[in-house]
Amino acid sequence: MRINLANIKKAKKLLNKSESVAIPTETVYGLAGNAYSDQACKKIFRLKKRPKNNPLIVHYYNIKNLAVDCDINDNFYKLYKKFCPGPITFILELKKKSKISKFVTNGKSTLAVRFPKHPVTRNLLKKLNFPLAAPSANISSKLSAVCSSDVKDEFGEKIKYILEGGRSSIGLESTIVDLRNKPKILRLGGLEISQIQKILKKKIIIIRSPQKITSPGQFKVHYSPDMPIRLNVKKNKTSEALLLIRKKKQNKPNYYYLSKKGDLKEAAKNLFSTLRKIKKSKYNSIAVSKIPNKGLGKTINDRLIRASKFK
Ligand code: TXA
Ligand code: MG
Repeated sequence: MRINLANIKKAKKLLNKSESVAIPTETVYGLAGNAYSDQACKKIFRLKKRPKNNPLIVHYYNIKNLAVDCDINDNFYKLYKKFCPGPITFILELKKKSKISKFVTNGKSTLAVRFPKHPVTRNLLKKLNFPLAAPSANISSKLSAVCSSDVKDEFGEKIKYILEGGRSSIGLESTIVDLRNKPKILRLGGLEISQIQKILKKKIIIIRSPQKITSPGQFKVHYSPDMPIRLNVKKNKTSEALLLIRKKKQNKPNYYYLSKKGDLKEAAKNLFSTLRKIKKSKYNSIAVSKIPNKGLGKTINDRLIRASKFK
């Protein structure tokens, strides 16, 4: 993608003044602010309507910039070398002398950090002298944004600037791995766990995996298109939008495909945009036909399970 330097300059100017700017990443768009500025971080929480105790991910250009704020360990180094920049977030210990705003972590001693791959945001990060706190660019609990018009849908005129970066190539948030002690996956995401396991040469425990949800309502709704969702549906009603992993021979007006041939990568990329399309359609409920629970299919199912907690 061609990088528009005037756009990056504009974003930089606003961020230097502790304003919030939406930024493109390969996973989803983020709502960014100076992670060293209390004012900038408070603004992000306010705009997103995010509970104060839900900490933010901080985005860095490279390991050198990170080393100022966090303690780095061997597992981090191995995963960084293999996957960064890319769709993985690490939980690390904050250094005592770190300049990260206490609003980012809600006063906790750990920090979630990530190195986004999107060329526009990398170019921006390289030019800033602070890292960017950036949660996904959506109102808290709603659908994530995978292009600039989605961000506009979410926030209207409330944010000063959206840095254009086209459509997010992965379409699902980063995989979060806690590396403080024994590695643990805290959120399934755009990087498959098998790949992480291969590098660390061991099986990693998954906390909060979809299989572990024992009672409905255990999780508050997240990624919500604001309508009821039924999962693993064999027989849908014509009044429901039907979300399908692959194109069927016979098409119907209420059929929405995530992929032509059931490709999970393509389906991941299309998940949030398709849910947003349904949200804007005449349908008021969604039936989802079974999605294979392997690889990125696990992340897709995780998002749909959480979205289905709508009451
Ligand atoms: O792909 C992504 O990760 C995107 C793009 C914009 O980078 N960001 C994103 O941020 O998904 P957000 O805020 O929507 O989700 C971050 C998740 C939240 O569930 C939060 O609770 C968790 O990361 N988190 C943040 N800091 C943490 C910490 N210190 N310990 C454990 N979890 C943390
Ligand atoms: Mg989010």
